[in-house]
Formats: sequence, structure tokens, C-alpha cells
Amino acid sequence: MNPIRPLLRTSRLRSISSTSTSHIANRIARRTLVTPTDPVRASVSNVVPEHVREDPGELDGGHEVANGAEGGKEMFGFKLNPVETKTGGNAKSTGRPIYLDMQATTPMDPRVLDKMLPLFTEQYGNPHSRTHAYGWEAEAAVDEARQHVANLVGAQEKDIVFTSGATESNNMLIKGIAKFHQGKRKHIITTQTEHKCVLDSCRHLSTQGFDVTYLPVLPNGLISLNDLKAALRPDTSVVSIMAVNNEIGVIQPLKEISETLKAYAKENKCQKALFHTDAAQAVGKIEIDVEAMGIDAMSISGHKIYGPKGVGAAYVRRRPRVRLEPLIHGGGQERGLRSGTVPAPLVVGLGEACRIAKNEMKLDHERVKELSDRLINGITSQVDHIVRNGDVSGYPGCVNLSFAYVEGESLLMALKDIALSSGSACTSASLEPSYVLRALGAAEDMAHSSLRFGIGRFTTEAEIDLVVARIVSVVNRLRDMSPLWEMVQEGIDISKIEWSQ
Ligand SMILES: Cc1ncc(COP(=O)(O)O)c(C=O)c1O
Repeated sequence: MNPIRPLLRTSRLRSISSTSTSHIANRIARRTLVTPTDPVRASVSNVVPEHVREDPGELDGGHEVANGAEGGKEMFGFKLNPVETKTGGNAKSTGRPIYLDMQATTPMDPRVLDKMLPLFTEQYGNPHSRTHAYGWEAEAAVDEARQHVANLVGAQEKDIVFTSGATESNNMLIKGIAKFHQGKRKHIITTQTEHKCVLDSCRHLSTQGFDVTYLPVLPNGLISLNDLKAALRPDTSVVSIMAVNNEIGVIQPLKEISETLKAYAKENKCQKALFHTDAAQAVGKIEIDVEAMGIDAMSISGHKIYGPKGVGAAYVRRRPRVRLEPLIHGGGQERGLRSGTVPAPLVVGLGEACRIAKNEMKLDHERVKELSDRLINGITSQVDHIVRNGDVSGYPGCVNLSFAYVEGESLLMALKDIALSSGSACTSASLEPSYVLRALGAAEDMAHSSLRFGIGRFTTEAEIDLVVARIVSVVNRLRDMSPLWEMVQEGIDISKIEWSQ
């Protein structure tokens, strides 16, 4: 028998605060238990992030959450449907949408906050101040953070340049490398499924006289190494291919890509194109070793790995040296590549997030994989006509499913109590199907009806079970209302129908 009880729509959530606070506290406590070897963790349970400590009832004016599916109330723009479920005999209830959007951002690990706080309150010196202890201690904290970032990716400490995030790192590295080499080499290669900040950096360069090749991807989202080889030219300065795709979780073959670049340079007796990878979704989630993988430049983001928002890093190899033109000029900080005062608290947060990731990546990956399998099996064992977008061996914390015979907008509207992303992007005028899914060759309706489930370190089994139950019920209900679905049930092959205009 399915252990998931249907949602009890008539239940009242009188006190969201105590339930959600203890919910998070439980998760953190569990986290402490499963990895008891690290002494730093002892203080974690004392630090509950602000949004958790705050009583949401008070935040919301102390009103009760209304009953029923049509009930609920507005909170942060969401209509909150109170939900309650029983999984394995443990009652769980929550008044906030279940968060399954880990590719958009991750909650900050409380241990990271612990580490950052003294940098705001006591150790507030400018890390570039050389004349007093405030500066020295902030500088020491920044150096330690740099070491943690470097350790996580197999780099040298001095190869790490702090930035405001992966968007800045991508801009800095792609434009910077291209511009430095523009005298002799004006060709750039990237893929059609990169993040917008890579695509737009390349688009900008093409308005400046650079020639950009956008590699297509195979139906599973992977690039073809033969396509890459065919696109390379002696004047290719930089090849930018992401490590893990943010929409479909596909992991590109980084080592093989760098080997292809080396082999081409050797065969054609030309300078090797530099290999940049946007690893915003990869670092801390899968093993990345810049040396072993032959990566020359790489972008990292803090808020995708349970660190703070507004900080990231660029890996810029020094030996042999990767040369680039800086985008930001000023005090010459960060090897002159990124001027501006280094934000010590944020950088320390990024460093701590990397330290934790290095220690716990294996454990996180195992848990995320289990939850991912639970989600996929739970949904696909109860609902058919589902397509999984992207290669199945991708990062398990990013599951992208398309539901045939379901209208995408209605699907999202019915799932307001789960925070996830869809394969449709709202533009001012219309809903556009995702360019990533289109690059895989997905039909427009399948791209529209896709959902991205982002699973992370703090996701629980109970949440996954609740999401499975919600998805199954909503998809079945929407299909029951669909004339197309009725035809499919009657055995009509609707792909053969010629629709009149
Ligand atoms: C693959 C990828 N690259 C770059 C970015 C931008 O990162 P940041 O928010 O740190 O600028 C994101 C964020 O969504 C991403 O997923």
C-alpha cells in the first residue's frame, strides 16, 4: 500500500511558526547526527536563520491560514495551501511551499552563517588595510577562505579570484580572455544550452567583431566531441562549455573536452584554445579537479552551494598563465583582475561552504541520489507518458520531467504549494518554452509542460513523498479534464490527426 496519505485539506495550521521551526531544526539536528565527526557542527543547532526564527504568523499579521484548496493566503506572493501529510507514521505539516528549486538558489547552511557573523560584528576590518590588526585578521580570514575554495577544486590558492558570483566570473573570464587575445584570435566556441550570462557575454562579443560558434547538443543534452573538433579553428581563443546544466542537470565531459582542445592544437601546430567552464551548478556537487580535467578558467557561485548570495569566484590558472583583460579597474585587488574591496564576510561564507562541501560531498550526493530516485520512481510508477529531459546519468539533484497531455501553465498554477521551476519562461508578452529544452529537440508542448525538481542537502524524504502525491494528483486531475487525454485513452494516435486551422 502506498504510505502516502492524501492531503488533509480540512486541517488547520494554527501555528506555522512552531511547526516550521522545529521542521528545520529537526533537519539540522539530523544532519548533525549523520556526520558526527566534525566538531564545528556542535554549534549549528543554536543558529537558526532569521527567516526560520521569525514567527511567520507575526510576519503575516498573525492571521490563521485558511482551510481548503481554494483557501490559503498570500505570503511572499504565494497563495499558501495548508497541507498535512503522514509519512511512515510521522505527522509532518508545513505552511510554506516545499522548496525544490535548488538550482535557482540553495538555503544557506547555518554553519556558514556561524562562520560569517564575526566578520560583520568584530572582525570588520578592510582585508586590504596593511597598517593594523583589523586589516590583518580580515586578510587572514580571506586567505583561509581562498584556501578552502582552491582545495575543493584542486587549484592553487593564488589561482582563485573572488567575484560577486558566477555571472560576473563568466563575463570576466569569457570577455577578458577573448579581448586579451583579439589581436590574433577572434573565434569563440560555446554551446546552445549555456546559462544566459554566458550566451549574452558571447553575444556581446559578436557585436565587437568576434566570431562565435554555438554548438548544438544531442537529444540527451550532451555535446558531441566530433562537433567540437569540427568547430575548432587555429584562431579559437576560448571554448566555454558548462560543467552541469542548470535546467536538466546534464554533466558535460570536461576532461574529454580539454583533451580534444589539446589534440587539435598538436595536430594543427597552433596555440591551444583556453578551456573555460561555468561550474556554478557543479562545484561542491560533483568532483571537479581543474588539474586532472585540464580546465584553464572556471566560474563558481556561492549561493548554489549553501553559501551566501552576492559572492563567487573565478579560477584563473597561473601556470601556465591564463591571460585576460580585467573588466573592472581600480585598486588592483585580486591580482589586478578584479579591483574593489573584497567583501570579507561573504568570502568567508563562500570558503566555509566550500570546506563543508569538500567534507560532505559524498554524503550529500548519496542522499540527493536516494531522494531523486524516490521522486522519479514515485511519480513514474503512478503516472505514465512522462519524459525525463536530459541524460539520466546527470546530476541527480536536478530532475527535469515533461508531462504529456497536461497544459503547462495549469500544472504550475495547481502546484503553488511547491516551489519549483518550469520549462516555460515568462516574457512580458507570452510564455516561452525553455531554449535548453528546445535545443534537445523537445516538442513545444512538452517543453511547456516540464518541471524542474531541484533537490538539495536539506530536502527530506517526507517532502519528496508529499511532492510525489501532489504531482500524481494534479497531473491525473488535469488529464481528466483534457480532451486530448480522453482521445489517447480511447486508443487514438493523436500524432496522426490532421488538425484544421
Ligand atoms: C549554470 C549557471 N551559471 C551561472 C549562474 C549565475 O550565477 P550567479 O547567481 O552567482 O551570478 C547560474 C545561476 O542560476 C547558473 O545556474
